[in-house]
Amino acid sequence: MRKKIVAGNWKMNTTVPEGVELAKAVVAKSAEVPADVKLIVATPFTHLCPVAQVLEGSSVSLSAENCADQEKGAYTGEVSAAMLASAGCEYTILGHSERRQYYGETDEKLVAKTRLALANGLKVILCVGEKLEEREAGKHFDVCEAQIKHVLYQFTEADMQRIVIAYEPVWAIGTGKTATAEQAEEIHAFIRKVVAGKFGAAVADDMSILYGGSCKPSNARELFAQPDIDGGLIGGAALKADDFIAIARSY
Ligand code: PGA
Repeated sequence: MRKKIVAGNWKMNTTVPEGVELAKAVVAKSAEVPADVKLIVATPFTHLCPVAQVLEGSSVSLSAENCADQEKGAYTGEVSAAMLASAGCEYTILGHSERRQYYGETDEKLVAKTRLALANGLKVILCVGEKLEEREAGKHFDVCEAQIKHVLYQFTEADMQRIVIAYEPVWAIGTGKTATAEQAEEIHAFIRKVVAGKFGAAVADDMSILYGGSCKPSNARELFAQPDIDGGLIGGAALKADDFIAIARSY
């Protein structure tokens, strides 16, 4: 049975003390969320260790927002998958559109990052999604299919059990413009078909596919009600514990 997941992506927000307070507030309210909904917070690297302590003993899991494409060594400024695991991460986000757009994250690098994350015991939230001009040109299916094929098709059926896909249309991220439930469902169902094309229906059925892009308490219920939407990757609204929990309670 695939998991329902609501993951907060804090991006480059909050100082360490602010992040610790936010994590405490999420933990304090986590009991309000249905037991079958997995809560994850993805924090900046600097916050991982103190937030891991806050989350200890709670049902909330810790994620990083990125990891290095190299194992270890002379890569100044990078943080390896082994480091993330040792800091208490269960997950890492990979391939977020902001990383693809501003930091030259290619599908090739994402294969290396995913491989290292999995080899170090992490689970991966892999982001895919089209830009506005790609949607307007009717290319959104092709773009998502290519992103999945270039990265996930390099992995095995067993690996897929530790991978979650987040569909995040770039035009909806931080813009207040959400995909309609129908638009999101259409592409989620398509993504599941692309996964099934390589790994079979059972693996695809088991895979959690999250929606991301201006998801908030007012629209989460309709999105999560769709058969192929298994939760959300939440940016802006994850910075307020009340909103984040309200989204998770929308199930
Ligand atoms: P948003 O960001 O909810 O602020 O649109 C989502 C994301 O980028 O993961």
